[in-house]
Amino acid sequence: MDTDQTLSGGGKLPLWVVRLLALGGAPPSLANMVGTTHVFVAKNATSGDGQFASITAALAAQKDQTGSEQSILTIFIKEGVYNEILNITRKHVILIGEGAGKTVITGNRSYGFDNLTTPDTATVSVHGMAFMAQDLTIRNTAGPKGLQAVALMSQSNFSLIYRCSIEGYQDTLFANKGDQIYLETDIHGTVDFVFGYAKASFLGCRLLVRSSGLGASKPNVITAQGRSNSTDRSGFSFQNCSVKADEGADLTGVKTFLGRPWKNHSHVIFMESFLDSIVNFTGWVEWEGRGPIPETVLYLEYDNYGPGADTSRRINITAVRIVTDCHEAAQYTADPFVDANFWMPKDKEGRDIIPYARGLSRDPTACPPATRA
Ligand SMILES: *[C@@H]1O[C@H](CO)[C@@H](O)[C@H](O)[C@H]1NC(C)=O
Ligand SMILES: *[C@@H]1O[C@H](CO)[C@@H](O)[C@H](O)[C@H]1NC(C)=O
Ligand SMILES: *[C@@H]1O[C@H](CO)[C@@H](O)[C@H](O)[C@H]1NC(C)=O
Ligand SMILES: *[C@@H]1O[C@H](CO)[C@@H](O)[C@H](O)[C@H]1NC(C)=O
Ligand SMILES: *[C@@H]1O[C@H](CO)[C@@H](O)[C@H](O)[C@H]1NC(C)=O
Ligand SMILES: *[C@@H]1O[C@H](CO)[C@@H](O)[C@H](O)[C@H]1NC(C)=O
Ligand SMILES: *[C@@H]1O[C@H](CO)[C@@H](O)[C@H](O)[C@H]1NC(C)=O
Ligand SMILES: *[C@@H]1O[C@H](CO)[C@@H](O)[C@H](O)[C@H]1NC(C)=O
Ligand SMILES: *[C@@H]1O[C@H](CO)[C@@H](O)[C@H](O)[C@H]1NC(C)=O
Ligand SMILES: *[C@@H]1O[C@H](CO)[C@@H](O)[C@H](O)[C@H]1NC(C)=O
Repeated sequence: MDTDQTLSGGGKLPLWVVRLLALGGAPPSLANMVGTTHVFVAKNATSGDGQFASITAALAAQKDQTGSEQSILTIFIKEGVYNEILNITRKHVILIGEGAGKTVITGNRSYGFDNLTTPDTATVSVHGMAFMAQDLTIRNTAGPKGLQAVALMSQSNFSLIYRCSIEGYQDTLFANKGDQIYLETDIHGTVDFVFGYAKASFLGCRLLVRSSGLGASKPNVITAQGRSNSTDRSGFSFQNCSVKADEGADLTGVKTFLGRPWKNHSHVIFMESFLDSIVNFTGWVEWEGRGPIPETVLYLEYDNYGPGADTSRRINITAVRIVTDCHEAAQYTADPFVDANFWMPKDKEGRDIIPYARGLSRDPTACPPATRA
């Protein structure tokens, strides 16, 4: 990153932003200042910390509402709770907070209380391509009785969510469409809390299962992936993640499953991940009222560990398979799976600005390149 803290517009970076940049890696927009607009949001705008008191105002004030490759909009958001519903339609928007739990974007729309369709419940919706969020929390507080209540809905191709916390109950994260990466991000929820039609890699993420308080008859389910037909390429890959009970969640008597088939070709792999004892020994479960898991579904597990990773009693159907060939597993690492090397941010020398796992990582020696026949 340039040490010069003068903005292209001539202004100076506020002190809290300088501090923030000193803590983490330089965000991609700062590696290449050309064509980049920086704006600063602080709840308390009177203190001189920010140009805007809300993210909504910062977005609305931009002359360029469309964005392009050459025009990146970076919004720095100071610590604080922002009670806002955001609909980001511009391309190349980067939201950077002061830390998950510190910068919080929160809403409480839901199907249960507001009779909204699932996508319309989202606290943050992203339609523009190449979106990025870093160091912040996105929350939906409608609670379990709100039923479908999305915190983040992203249909941004090439979207990167880095060191964030996505918090809700049912349907927390709607990874709707496009190639996406969730890196070192916590996702909290109860039922179907990672769902959608995106092709998404989850790297170093924590999946934190909450208690819905709706009783033992309501199981918790982590994924409801939406691949619907044989030409659709979508799917979810979890690598180096962990599945655990959320802090303080009492899951006694409540079953937790890795996934259920929202659509007939649902496609998910958990690999090199820690599965705690909350994961039911059958692993995966059918969609209530729709009969057995269809044969067109593909649920894979590779080299997971922890008490929930014992696959000896997994549901015995063709849709559920334990991968033993590392070359098959390697196809689900981020580079091939979501073409990460093509679009993850790079510095001028072509190095990753934000490092991520480029291959299998638990035991790199275990998977030598395939030998030619
Ligand atoms: C806002 O900033 C002003 C000036 O720094 C300060 O006096 C005031 O206490 C702040 N208010 C809040 C709510 O933080
Ligand atoms: C919920 O919304 C649907 C669709 O807009 C509408 O048909 C229905 O009457 C609404 N239900 C209630 C209880 O408001
Ligand atoms: C967000 O904007 C898009 C594009 O204008 C629109 O289709 C969508 O309905 C909006 N979503 C919400 C929740 O307002
Ligand atoms: C949602 O938040 C509003 C205030 O922002 C509050 O009036 C309402 O009761 C909340 N609804 C739920 C279901 O929590
Ligand atoms: C995302 O972009 C890639 C590369 O341009 C393209 O192949 C893919 O179809 C796009 N995905 C969606 C859902 O638009
Ligand atoms: C695994 O994820 C953790 C964060 O949860 C990260 O610190 C670590 O570097 C990751 N390991 C690899 C090999 O990517
Ligand atoms: C297959 O799924 C894709 C992605 O959801 C969709 O765009 C396409 O229309 C579907 N094709 C058929 C034949 O249903
Ligand atoms: C799955 O396929 C069956 C048989 O073709 C069909 O009846 C059913 O509606 C499909 N389910 C979904 C969720 O698309
Ligand atoms: C795991 O799920 C199966 C099938 O639903 C159920 O019979 C079993 O009791 C569950 N095990 C635990 C420990 O909850
Ligand atoms: C799984 O089912 C097949 C037949 O469908 C059977 O041959 C095999 O022994 C079963 N495996 C286990 C572990 O029960």
